[in-house]
Amino acid sequence: MSAVTEATGTFLRSLTVSDTVSGPLTADSIAGAAYIVAAVLFILSLAGLSKHEKARAGVVYGITGMVIALAATVWLTVQGAWGTGPALTGLVLLLAAVLVGGAIGLWRARVVEMTGMPELIALLHSFVGLAAVLVGWNGHLEAPALSPDLMAVHHAEVFIGVFIGAVTFTGSIVAFLKLSARMKSSPLMLPGKNALNLGALAAFVALTVWYVNDSQLWLLIVVTILALGLGWHLVASIGGGDMPVVVSMLNSYSGWAAAAAGFLLNNDLLIITGALVGSSGAYLSYIMCKAMNRSFISVIAGGFGIAAPTTGGDADQGEHREITAEATAEMLANASSVVITPGYGMAVAQAQYPVAELAHQLREKGVNVRFGIHPVAGRLPGHMNVLLAEAKVPYDIVLEMDEINDDLGDTSVVLVIGANDTVNPSAAEDPGSPIAGMPVLRVWEAENVVVFKRSMAAGYAGVQNPLFYRDNSQMLFGDAKTRVEDILRAF
Ligand code: TAP
Repeated sequence: MSAVTEATGTFLRSLTVSDTVSGPLTADSIAGAAYIVAAVLFILSLAGLSKHEKARAGVVYGITGMVIALAATVWLTVQGAWGTGPALTGLVLLLAAVLVGGAIGLWRARVVEMTGMPELIALLHSFVGLAAVLVGWNGHLEAPALSPDLMAVHHAEVFIGVFIGAVTFTGSIVAFLKLSARMKSSPLMLPGKNALNLGALAAFVALTVWYVNDSQLWLLIVVTILALGLGWHLVASIGGGDMPVVVSMLNSYSGWAAAAAGFLLNNDLLIITGALVGSSGAYLSYIMCKAMNRSFISVIAGGFGIAAPTTGGDADQGEHREITAEATAEMLANASSVVITPGYGMAVAQAQYPVAELAHQLREKGVNVRFGIHPVAGRLPGHMNVLLAEAKVPYDIVLEMDEINDDLGDTSVVLVIGANDTVNPSAAEDPGSPIAGMPVLRVWEAENVVVFKRSMAAGYAGVQNPLFYRDNSQMLFGDAKTRVEDILRAF
């Protein structure tokens, strides 16, 4: 922090020196300097968040940058406010909004369950989209006096900002509804859905040209409705299995929406921050698509080119076998190697502590225990790693999917704890499945598989799982935490 303060001081001093030549230090130049420091802190924050060990420092940089950015914005308003009526009203409104928004944000962040994070993030993205729409509309209603050329640029900013903001707004709302199970996670398959999306895009381009030449209010109304519909349709057309990519894609959209608002408000920091969020979100979506063997273009275009699934419904899969906690304990005691593959159900049951204890006790007995983590297990990237780290599972036995997959064939027992889609063989074996092609943990290759879950219900993608009916699989029904504790008691 002291380094940051020093950097700010040096920057301000350098401004003072140059200003002796070019003019006095103004509120704008002080705020400008603060914005640059905040922007640097945001970049450091992103760099920190990309590594486990530096993540905490990254969060601190981000918070510091945001405090500086907010303080500078309020300071700018104060400068215009003293002694002037309307600006003072603006300042009071600004502070009230910061207080109310900050209080709600703090409350939600404190009460949200780890499993509820993705839907909260989706909801927050929708606010960024809505803000961009409102800023755009304001830009139309209170258009500044500019030369004709600059006015054309201003109108393009208004139109594009409203479009991106509205797509982000409804897209994020649908993501929120899907992630919180208030809406079906299976993809909406309207006839000619790709033509609809492409048509909406073409209409947007044509309307933009029209609006730049003749800025009529009805054009703005039409593009707002068009973009609201497109955002809704784009995300509704994407299946549950691809939702992780959608969340990071909306993150990217919300960044571009913020950048568009930055252009309209003439706020450099908003442009920089929006571009940072937009590009890092797009890059994360790209990495996730690669990890899940999905086409990036197809996902961002609302499932463009993806055929409707032909299998994965309610077809009869045969009989499943059940096992007790005591029999599982015996099987584990006789095993030479055990792999634990956790999923969303472990998070729901908060089973990470007894699972960590189980791993510890088995290791004490000389069993080779490792964890296999699927990149999208749970409901947000790194979800399982965070839970296992919280329960003090040593890092060196927690392996990524690609590191463990080839060893699963030589494993005595795999414990699937509250995971479903991420261990579904149909992804690898059934080209007609909605999750076909998505890499999965090949747990079915192990000698024995014990699946911990409460029922035979499908996972997040809504797809049946043939693993449960395989000869080497047995179901251990019940809450994952209770069942693991039963096994520990049976040892
Ligand atoms: P899922 O496929 O969602 O399966 C979780 C399983 O846990 C369910 O079958 C459920 O079965 C079981 N379960 C729930 N509560 C339980 C409890 N208390 N005790 C025992 N079992 C319980 O999870 P997964 O394998 O981790 O796969 C993740 C899925 O979420 C993927 O489809 C992925 O695309 C999607 N997704 C991931 C992310 C990110 S970024 N990771 C974000 C959004 C969506 P019962 O109900 O029968 O118990």
